[in-house]
Amino acid sequence: MLAEAASPLGIETVVLAERPDDAACPPAGAVVLGSPTSATDLAALAARADAVTFDHEQVGLAEVAALEAAGHAVRPGAATLELAVDKARCRERLAAAEIPVPAFVVLKSPGLSPAERLGALESFADEHGWPLVLKAARGGYDGKGVWFVAGPGEAQAVAEEVASTGVDLVVEERVAIEAELAVLVCRRPGGEAVVWPTVETTQSGGVCRELLVPSRIDPAVLASASEVARRVAEKARAVGVLAVELFVNGGRVLVNELAARPHNSGHWTIEGSVTSQFENHLRAVLDLPLGDTSLNAPAVATVNVFGGSDAGDPRARVGGALAVEGAHVHLYGKVPRPGRKLGHVTVTGHDSDGVRARAWAAARALGTPEAEGTGARAGEDSGVDP
Ligand SMILES: Nc1ncnc2c1ncn2[C@@H]1O[C@H](COP(=O)(O)OP(=O)(O)O)[C@@H](O)[C@H]1O
Ligand SMILES: [Mg+2]
Repeated sequence: MLAEAASPLGIETVVLAERPDDAACPPAGAVVLGSPTSATDLAALAARADAVTFDHEQVGLAEVAALEAAGHAVRPGAATLELAVDKARCRERLAAAEIPVPAFVVLKSPGLSPAERLGALESFADEHGWPLVLKAARGGYDGKGVWFVAGPGEAQAVAEEVASTGVDLVVEERVAIEAELAVLVCRRPGGEAVVWPTVETTQSGGVCRELLVPSRIDPAVLASASEVARRVAEKARAVGVLAVELFVNGGRVLVNELAARPHNSGHWTIEGSVTSQFENHLRAVLDLPLGDTSLNAPAVATVNVFGGSDAGDPRARVGGALAVEGAHVHLYGKVPRPGRKLGHVTVTGHDSDGVRARAWAAARALGTPEAEGTGARAGEDSGVDP
């Protein structure tokens, strides 16, 4: 989607991809075959580019830092990327900057004995109550790597399993979430930043199913989400799009996690905003003037398309979705599997109920199961990739 946004601006793209059938290859101008964790392959990419960016976070952090140190324009840089790939570093950095986050403690791995780990879990629970939310600091996505634990036995089993992989554990209070929001900020290297209207996101089983803009919740809460996200982008020294995920609880917002790249919560901007997240990301990465982030319509809804239990291919069903008035269908060309994110549908219009109904109708026509009870549960291997 970044390469598609680059083309009309006359920006040439070179993509680093592991396989020629990667969905990023067809729209790209050129392809370097290689791994995003290989210093050699990243250097081969950087040698051909004026600026380097990424659209996923499975890149080697040390290798990205080395490219920067070698003088390449890597945007965003490793310091920002670290906050998006490491939930422990993210919580610590934001808390130190007095940005509101859920109550948490980080248990390092290695460094603690099983008894010490259990002691730390129990004393955190004494203060915040069960259940707790445990998160692997690195490697999780779409609810994979997040566990809701009811008591000490369950918590200890998860904590030891995570520790055995050498990854730190974030222990959090379970927040009574009234709504989840996402704010997309786009920032140039000099600090100029734009923010899109706050998005209301709906999760099922730890996976985002649906986006709605504008959100129906209290405008004062939306404004504070926007203000907090701007501060986060500054503290993180973000360049390009930074997606800030937040929880709403009792009229306040808490920052959950960050994505340092165009993000699923911004896919609605392709048709729903004057400038899409992909175009503004490219503009920021190349230090060009940023575009208007206003809405194109009073209401915008995006529904993610997932593989159904029959593992049918949405490409074979596209006619049904296109019969829905105003449905903009985006399929990512991935091999269908039950629960795998395969695309999204956006509808713009006059009212939120109408755009949601039409976006859901098109997503269902593509084989997406209903939201409730069909997604993988948080903490289980969902088979869904970013
Ligand atoms: N502290 C928490 N309290 C309540 N629910 C949470 C908490 N942390 C995460 N969740 C729920 O789990 C989902 C996935 O967690 P998140 O930290 O965003 O991990 P991922 O990297 O899988 O997106 C969130 O969108 C939210 O619905
Ligand atoms: Mg998340």
